[in-house]
Amino acid sequence: MTAQTVASAAYVVAALLFILALAGLSRHETARAGNTFGIAGMAIALISTLVLALSGGIGGLGLGLLVAGVVIGAAVGLFRASRVPMTGMPELIALFHSFVGLAAVLVGWNGYLEVEAAGGGGLAADLLGIHRGEVAIGVFIGAVTFTGSIVAWGKLNGRFNSKPLVLPGKNALNLGSLVVFAGLTVWFVIDPTLTALVVITVIALLLGVHLVASIGGGDMPVVVSMLNSYSGWAAAASGFLLGNDLLIITGALVGSSGAYLSYIMCKAMNRSFISVIAGGFGIEAPSGDAKDYGEHREVNAEGAAALLSTASNVVITPGYGMAVAQAQYPVAELTRALRDKGVNVRFGIHPVAGRLPGHMNVLLAEAKVPYDIVLEMDEINDDFPDTDVVLVIGANDTVNPAATDEPNSPIAGMPVLKVWEAGNVIVFKRSMAAGYAGVQNPLFFRENSQMLFGDARDRVEEIVKAL
Ligand code: TAP
Repeated sequence: MTAQTVASAAYVVAALLFILALAGLSRHETARAGNTFGIAGMAIALISTLVLALSGGIGGLGLGLLVAGVVIGAAVGLFRASRVPMTGMPELIALFHSFVGLAAVLVGWNGYLEVEAAGGGGLAADLLGIHRGEVAIGVFIGAVTFTGSIVAWGKLNGRFNSKPLVLPGKNALNLGSLVVFAGLTVWFVIDPTLTALVVITVIALLLGVHLVASIGGGDMPVVVSMLNSYSGWAAAASGFLLGNDLLIITGALVGSSGAYLSYIMCKAMNRSFISVIAGGFGIEAPSGDAKDYGEHREVNAEGAAALLSTASNVVITPGYGMAVAQAQYPVAELTRALRDKGVNVRFGIHPVAGRLPGHMNVLLAEAKVPYDIVLEMDEINDDFPDTDVVLVIGANDTVNPAATDEPNSPIAGMPVLKVWEAGNVIVFKRSMAAGYAGVQNPLFFRENSQMLFGDARDRVEEIVKAL
């Protein structure tokens, strides 16, 4: 049996493990097992690739570079992942996507240097055209993913403005770049000059920046999953160039699952899929006018505890602020205390609450809140009129009535948790500031709403004490 046969068999096993990982990650109960399958698949993939390289006669400098790359990459990955707080996960993921994009650009350029720039590199004449096409497409997708992910990283951690960038003729710029890229690819396939590849790379780098910069804060969740998808396609393109089947399969899995996730999120947020993947195609910049909604009312922890002690139906809608405050533990304690008193407590989770898909579910599971009282937005939205008290814990955009009431709002049309239909709403946050999308929230000024200012963790702990 040759090393190639063993590696091919190992690749099939790894590919199956990746599919099991995706299946496992789709449900709370099986997510841990899914993660383990993914880790096992990646370990098998790495070891078999190393064995294949060794049997192919790699040695000396090549082997040293390979081992150094794996060791440095693993050390950086371990260091970053072990230190990142849950709230920093989305930007870390965006940063990782940028590495995949950069790797695809380097693989593409390497392919060019080894084949096209080396007079064909020993490749059969009828395969040369295909190789050139792979180089152009791989470099293009990789470069868009690279700069797009860096802009997403900056928008998510607040280094860049989350408002959409609106350049004059932005749609024409995006479409024009695609047309120019198609033309340059044809040119590169016919005559693989360095100039064509440099121009393709530069256009793709600029397009990546523009696509993501043009998308507003509220639509960023879709952008992250879209970049996840692009990074998959970039990896698949590298797989074709390197002749690595597993990279093609893995890239296609990531690419298609990321695209599907983006599609589901667009549906959940009532956004046009095409518009978001095309960099906010057709979306105009929000007017940004501040409206006067009147006065807000305030409550303290004791007042909130008094209201809760008379309630029989309570819904908790957590958002990004719960993650920032790490309030999930006192929230779980409050839930237990209320349930012990016979109160029906449930959670309403918006599909894009927090900063990454399933963010709130992970935090609540961490704090041991039972799965069966954690409901999706569609499962709970009709129950608010029968709810006595809603606790909005660090959520803002996901409970904003402007999405349904104000057609000109930048978040108009996005389905939200209709918390204002409940008897009483208590909003936990530190100030009257806007949420991630930068939009004012009229919920805070409704007659049945009261603001409970301060860090959500401290305030919930005070309520538990008062109860
Ligand atoms: P946001 O609209 O982001 O609002 C969070 C609120 O939490 C803020 O208004 C903030 O108000 C409050 N807060 C922050 N720290 C707090 C603390 N320590 N204690 C109490 N409150 C605190 O939250 P959301 O409703 O979860 O909406 C998510 C937004 O992020 C959406 O626009 C969504 O599109 C976007 N997004 C989501 C994702 C995914 S996949 N979920 C990814 C990227 C972006 P104060 O500053 O006044 O305290």
